[in-house]
This record gives sequence, C-alpha cells and structure tokens, in this order.
Amino acid sequence: MNLQELIARQRPGWSLEQPFYTSAEIYDLERKTWLARQWYVLGHSSEVRESGSFIVRDLLGESLIIVRGNDGTVRGFFNVCRHRGSRICDADGKAASLMCPYHAWTYRLDGTLRSAPALPEGIDTSQLGLRPAPVKEIGGVILGSLQGELESLEPVRQALEPALIYHGVPNARIAARRHYPTRGNWKLVMENFMECYHCFPAHPEYCSVMRHVDALGRVSSDGAARWQQTLEEWLRNQANPDSPIGNQQFNFTAPVQSYGATRAPIGGGCKTQTKDGEPAAPLMGEQSRFDGGVSTLRIDPFVYIAALNDYVRLFQFLPTGPETTDVVLTWLVDGEAREPDVDIEKLVWLWDVTTVQDKALIERNAAGIRSTAYSPGPYSTLESMPAQFVGRYLRELAL
Ligand code: FES
Ligand code: FE
Repeated sequence: MNLQELIARQRPGWSLEQPFYTSAEIYDLERKTWLARQWYVLGHSSEVRESGSFIVRDLLGESLIIVRGNDGTVRGFFNVCRHRGSRICDADGKAASLMCPYHAWTYRLDGTLRSAPALPEGIDTSQLGLRPAPVKEIGGVILGSLQGELESLEPVRQALEPALIYHGVPNARIAARRHYPTRGNWKLVMENFMECYHCFPAHPEYCSVMRHVDALGRVSSDGAARWQQTLEEWLRNQANPDSPIGNQQFNFTAPVQSYGATRAPIGGGCKTQTKDGEPAAPLMGEQSRFDGGVSTLRIDPFVYIAALNDYVRLFQFLPTGPETTDVVLTWLVDGEAREPDVDIEKLVWLWDVTTVQDKALIERNAAGIRSTAYSPGPYSTLESMPAQFVGRYLRELAL
C-alpha cells in the first residue's frame, strides 16, 4: 500500500478509505508522528495533589509517570529506567523519590538521578535522569503528549485557564470516572464525537436534555439562524455576566493546533444536564448562580471539557491500537461537596447513556468498514466538523 497514493486518491468531503480505519501499518505511522504531536487529557490535578503523588498512565503504547515535585510543578517522565530500561512504577502512588525495583536506582521527583549503587568511577550521573515527556497542568487539567512542544501550549493556557478557574476545576474532586473501551479506530471515535447528525436517531436521552438540538440546525433548515438568536438572547438576559468566556466565544485555528471555547444555554429551562434539568451537585467555582449554561473548552481534536454550573466532564480519547480506542469520562464536582449533595447517578446519567450508545454506533461503523463492500461516502451538511477534521488530518499526515 502506498500511503501517498492513498492520500492523493481521497475525495474531499468524503469519508476515508478503508485502510485509514483498519491498517496496522498506518496506525504505527500515526502513533510515531501525527498522534504523537497531539495533546491528550491524562488526568486531573486532584490525582497528584501533593508533592510526591504520582500517577502512571498509558499514552499511545508508552507508559508515563506524572508526578508533582517538591516545587509544586507537575512533570511527566517516560516510565523507563535509565539503567537497563525496567519499568519503574506499576501503579499510582506517593513517594519521596522514585525507585526502580530492579537494582534500586533512585530518581528525584524532578527526574534527576539521585543514587545508583556501585556505579564505576567516571560515569556522569547528571546525564542519567528520567526522559521527560511533555506534560502540563492547566487550570486543574493534566495534559500530556509524546512529542508536543510545551511552549505551544502557552497561548492555549492563557486562553483557557481563566474559564477553568471560573468553573472551579483546579480545586474540584473526581466524583465518578467510567471507561468505555471501544472497538473502532480512533478516527471513527472522533468523527462520531464531532457530529450530531446521529443525535436525533440515536440519542433520545441527549435530545430530551438538549432541547435546542432542533434549533441547532441539526434537523431543520432554518435551525442555524434560530440557534444564533437563542444564543444571543441567553447571553444577554440569563448568562452569568462574569464568565471569562462570556460572549467572546473564540476559535483559534493554527496549522498544527486549534483550540477554542464556547458558552451556550442548555435550553428548555434546564439548569444543568440531568434528566430533570435540576442540579446534581452544588454550584462550582466562582459562578454566582445557576444560569443553565454549558461551557465547552477544546484543544482539537482530543481535549474536550464541558463545564456546567454544578459539574464538569473531562473527556479522554486515547488511541490504543489500529482498531481500538479507550474513551474515559471523568465527572468533577466542587472539592468540598459530598453526598447527599452530590447525586452520582444523576450526575453521570446523560453522558453515560450517550457514551454507551456511541460505543455501539462506532463498533457497528467499524464492523461495516471492515467489509469488502465498504467505500467512502459523502459527509452531509451536518457533518462539516468531521469533514474538516479528516481534511486536516490528511494534510498533516502527508507532511
Ligand atoms: Fe532500573 Fe536496573 S533497570 S535499576
Ligand atoms: Fe453520539
């Protein structure tokens, strides 16, 4: 298979050729190049709250240690000993230093080598620190990458951190986390996540909460204009005026990185995204009252955070193989809030039921694509986001 030929043959506005969704060879290339440059949600600050707290997370087949240092900074390291390469940590924990269990080489929390028994004279131990991985804590969210440039995150931090602080993300706690391992290529997962063409037929619960789905133009031709009007009225009359996103909804698109934030009403008089529209947890962060809004913050394509008045959802999309992707959802609530003020089942209901449905949709999609009868099909006008995403992916993969 010639990748350049495959890319050249791709019709703009049509779904990808089969090998992009199935080939181990293409996945291996992506893993070492395009995927390695992207940013992913790896955790929440509460998981490494104190100095010496660390978590161990897999990213694109690599194991990373994410640890808070004595200076309060969260750093990432490849979980590979500089002696003879053993894994160092197997599970999350807390320690004053990181010791490899094989021959007891010990690393400080900043990754430098502290001690290595019986080394011969003349070895420069300053060159034997753990290999750093790009990891950064932004407004309570731990982002990681394999090859991303930390400097490239600075404008993203400046843009998104005020909203994360406003929503109380840094001091939140994890109320629930659920895993949805999905048998489908990561692009099928992302394409599904980016379009709501399927919402009406496939997500009755989502549509029952997001009452403006119709107004979003997803099922009617004048929907986009009506949605714009709904949004403007809400921003003017009901939205908390102190939100850093406010009506300055923004989108930055750069060749390698695009990110953005929006704030919108849930609609239908709902205060939050629950079955009855009533809160599942106390108000978070600096918000003065329930305004029925949802803020979304993104670093495309894998980082996606939805912040309601009473809870925040972190989405993790983690490619794990040519035809497997882990989807992980984490629900955050105010750090001080406890049951009975936090109703976990009520909190997780909407996106748990929706993600279970999406997993089934993606797996059916993947099964059909494996057929010899599959050929690319045209994206509809309601699938402009996946169409753009696929275009960007192809352009950047060809670089
Ligand atoms: Fe880690 Fe030997 S491999 S101390
Ligand atoms: Fe869906």
